[in-house]
Amino acid sequence: MKWIRASLSALPLLATGGVAAFDVLQRKHALLWNFPVIGHFRYLLESIGPELRQYIVTSNDEERPFSRDQRRWVYASSKMENNYFGFGTDNDLEHTAGYPIIKQRTFSSVVPPSGIHAGEEVWLPSAKVLGAARGRAKAFRPNSVVNVSAMSYGSLSAQAVEAINRGVAICDAVQNTGEGGLSRHHRQGGDLVFQIGTAYFGCRDEQGRFDLARLKELVAGAPVRAIEIKLSQGAKPGLGGVLPGVKVTPAIAEARGVPVGQTCISPSRHAEFSDVDSMLDWVELLASETGLPVGIKSAVGADRFWENLVHEMATSGRGVDFITVDGGEGGTGAAPLTFSDSVSLPFRVGFARVYSRFARAGLTDRVTFVGSGKLGLPDNAMVAFALGCDMVNVAREAMLSVGCIQSQRCHTDRCPTGVATQDPWLTRGLDPTLKSVRLANYVRTLRRDLVKVSEACGVYHPGLVTADDIELLDGTRSGRSIREVYGYEPGWGVPSDADREALHALLSRTAPEGGGAPASPARV
Ligand SMILES: Cc1cc2nc3c(=O)[nH]c(=O)nc-3n(C[C@H](O)[C@H](O)[C@H](O)COP(=O)(O)O)c2cc1C
Ligand code: SF4
Repeated sequence: MKWIRASLSALPLLATGGVAAFDVLQRKHALLWNFPVIGHFRYLLESIGPELRQYIVTSNDEERPFSRDQRRWVYASSKMENNYFGFGTDNDLEHTAGYPIIKQRTFSSVVPPSGIHAGEEVWLPSAKVLGAARGRAKAFRPNSVVNVSAMSYGSLSAQAVEAINRGVAICDAVQNTGEGGLSRHHRQGGDLVFQIGTAYFGCRDEQGRFDLARLKELVAGAPVRAIEIKLSQGAKPGLGGVLPGVKVTPAIAEARGVPVGQTCISPSRHAEFSDVDSMLDWVELLASETGLPVGIKSAVGADRFWENLVHEMATSGRGVDFITVDGGEGGTGAAPLTFSDSVSLPFRVGFARVYSRFARAGLTDRVTFVGSGKLGLPDNAMVAFALGCDMVNVAREAMLSVGCIQSQRCHTDRCPTGVATQDPWLTRGLDPTLKSVRLANYVRTLRRDLVKVSEACGVYHPGLVTADDIELLDGTRSGRSIREVYGYEPGWGVPSDADREALHALLSRTAPEGGGAPASPARV
């Protein structure tokens, strides 16, 4: 009897031991690997979350930066699970100013397919050839309108960088290195955009000065398709950064070209140029020396910079090949709260201002416009395309797809899922091979949804959705088209006739057509 009682009381211990053993042996969930047994509580809470929240906590759409619904959509998409939602929207359409509504067409020759996974393999290239307008030797048409935004090795773990790089190789997208240099983890088969920040990591000499020879050697030795000069990012515009010495591991030091263990500073301004004129000289130098398209990334603040850029591009024969406009709502590894909250315009307002300047000067066909700032969700991305974006970059949504749970501890080096930390104990649970597939699934699903929604609007590519096709609601009182709200003129926000024709010729429709039921005898 005694031994029965003893074995019964040992049962919970045994069960816990079993669960712990399972957790450390599995590779699917970094969280469980890092936090055996207790990690299950997070999944339990997530699964009973709707019931709990309905009575006591927050709604599906309250949390920020990404609501529970948005995160659920990314998670389900990255796992190729059912990412549909039941019962109807729980968004507060009636009271959310600026809520976007995409206007479907009743009759159209373009019909979206209905299956959940239909069209995932669809090819969705950019409508513009990057660098063609300025005749760059290595101009190319990006194969994907969705690409991974700049996130440096240092803010992300080696495993996360590898997962993303392998993932973009699977789904034919491009990974931006971020300003932390080009590491061996970026060399897993995926194409790259090499970002140059103010510290010139990866292309600097021993004194920290920009080194053109090193840049040429670096981009020639890796699948770099373009160079992005970082002027600023939405979450901390106008401000440099610091990577503490403890985080400067040998691998990070190697990628950045800095001494191991020494704190490295990214200054707040570039040393190679000090105004638009000298910046464009530098852009032309980099482009002619490497043959690559060269662009800038910037958040939108004071108008003067954009005014000067448009003026110089219209009059001097020099210019950037692409502009990445990052919204103030964008993410970061770490930033002061005021900068994240209040410096630089949010994406829609900022992008519309920049695009309008270029449109008024007749320059939009000479530049590829890239947007970022929570654009990794189909509705936000559609607004970006309607405003004139040719491509969107995704950062935090890509992190979510490789396991991030939005615990917002990226700045502490204690990321529980191993995505944004250099702690070997925490990163070992993140399996780059498994997560690369998740990243690819997510990107493919986003592209598929962009095509589906475009087709609902009667066109086959999101770049062809116009500023008249989306309205922003003013509660239940009225809705105004994006064209009206942002003062767009007819023809703005879509590619030129020549680009549209080229796109049309290229897109042999790979997506399954939706069509309708067979016609009744009276109709045939
Ligand atoms: C962890 C992390 C690291 C980042 N590192 C960089 C960087 O090195 N260079 C840069 O230009 N932007 C960087 N960003 C900003 C993103 O590239 C992107 O512009 C911004 O997060 C908006 O996109 P999202 O809303 O899809 O996250 C970083 C963002 C995050 C979350
Ligand atoms: S710290 Fe939290 S928010 Fe940052 S990457 Fe890790 S899980 Fe995501």
